[in-house]
Amino acid sequence: MSAFVLRQGILHAEEVSLADIADRFGTPCWVYSRRALEAALDEFQSELGGIDALVCYAIKANSNLAVLDVLARRGAGFDIVSGGELKRVLAAGADPRRIVFSGVGKSAGEMELALQAGILCFNVESAAELDRLDSVAGALGKVAPISLRVNPDVDARTHPYVSTGLKENKFGVAYEDALPLYRHASRRRNLRVGGIDCHIGSQLLDSAPFVEALDKILLLVDRLAAEGIALEHIDLGGGLGIRYRDEVPPTVKDYLQPMLARLRQRQLRVLLEPGRRLVGNAGVLLTRVEYLKPGDVKSFAIVDAAMNDLARPALYGSWHEIVPVVPHPGAVRPWEIVGPVCESGDFLGRGRELALAAGDLLAVMSAGAYSMSMSSNYNSRPRAAEVMIDGSQAHLVRRRETIEELYALENRLP
Ligand code: LLP
Repeated sequence: MSAFVLRQGILHAEEVSLADIADRFGTPCWVYSRRALEAALDEFQSELGGIDALVCYAIKANSNLAVLDVLARRGAGFDIVSGGELKRVLAAGADPRRIVFSGVGKSAGEMELALQAGILCFNVESAAELDRLDSVAGALGKVAPISLRVNPDVDARTHPYVSTGLKENKFGVAYEDALPLYRHASRRRNLRVGGIDCHIGSQLLDSAPFVEALDKILLLVDRLAAEGIALEHIDLGGGLGIRYRDEVPPTVKDYLQPMLARLRQRQLRVLLEPGRRLVGNAGVLLTRVEYLKPGDVKSFAIVDAAMNDLARPALYGSWHEIVPVVPHPGAVRPWEIVGPVCESGDFLGRGRELALAAGDLLAVMSAGAYSMSMSSNYNSRPRAAEVMIDGSQAHLVRRRETIEELYALENRLP
């Protein structure tokens, strides 16, 4: 059941009214539900019961310390893609031995940080990165645990910007290069081959491409074993989609079962890197209507959140449901829900059939993933506050930025 429901005519997050949250913390404001986060993780954990598995939450989806803390306490590991994300998860109290490090452009400095911390595995994405990691580890007198992220050349059938498992994408090692590169890695003194990894894209609504990719990866696992390179784990990446509008994504069970069936007879630890599925529907963006500007061609509702807060509609044409916090009667008409930013691409929703009045509060739904984490200060707009709801409690987990903070790092010329 969703954590965001109408009670006595007011949209609530768990037991707290979103109208009260707006009064207390102001708008725009991100609101997360602890219960929804835990339920999403539990869905994975329960399907994986009895299997040697680790769910490594891809923190790029939402890296607020409180979100990380909630998931870490429930047994999650983490997938990171930068030194910044590493420091964040460590600050949230995560166990470094439950961290995997993905990404095509790891710097030597980031590799050092991760080696010093003692992470579980580097997901290496190229031959050049492998050599750099070998020498960085050597200089520190360490051995780097690695897996190769293999690009299986499988069509994830999702938005081209978030499709990553095709040959034309920058990600991973080409399938046919994987075997020679594993041989090379197994001979390097400062590397320890631990696993194999694959991530084909995001917001997948069909489980078939995952299975197709896994079958190709398992062929490699078998070939490697025949050569005496025995892997300890297989990382299936993330990518499972959520419902934004009327999509019907697979259940976690339907997504995992065909893959687990193939893995059951093997001695491989299973790693997963879900991001969106854990946090996407656990958050909303709360915003207030500043002005209504009805017109002949289009009618605009100008709200106090904008593309700098939620970039997904402008960037990918993504659809987020927008609902009134206190639904009221009135003439319904199609509204363009737009922000104050000076671009025509600054919209949160188009042609939304709503009865609106100035001052109304709106909730932009499914805004827990790739929302605050992709926000910016464009137009010198302070980033919005983040609030975590836990039952009847509302915790401020990131205060709103002040305007002074936006230019605090800058200097005028002498
Ligand atoms: N693992 C790796 C290596 C990834 O690159 C990603 C996401 C994930 C795991 C998690 O994928 P998920 O389970 O969240 O689909 N900004 C876009 C999504 C970008 C996804 C990037 N990589 C959006 O707003 O839709």
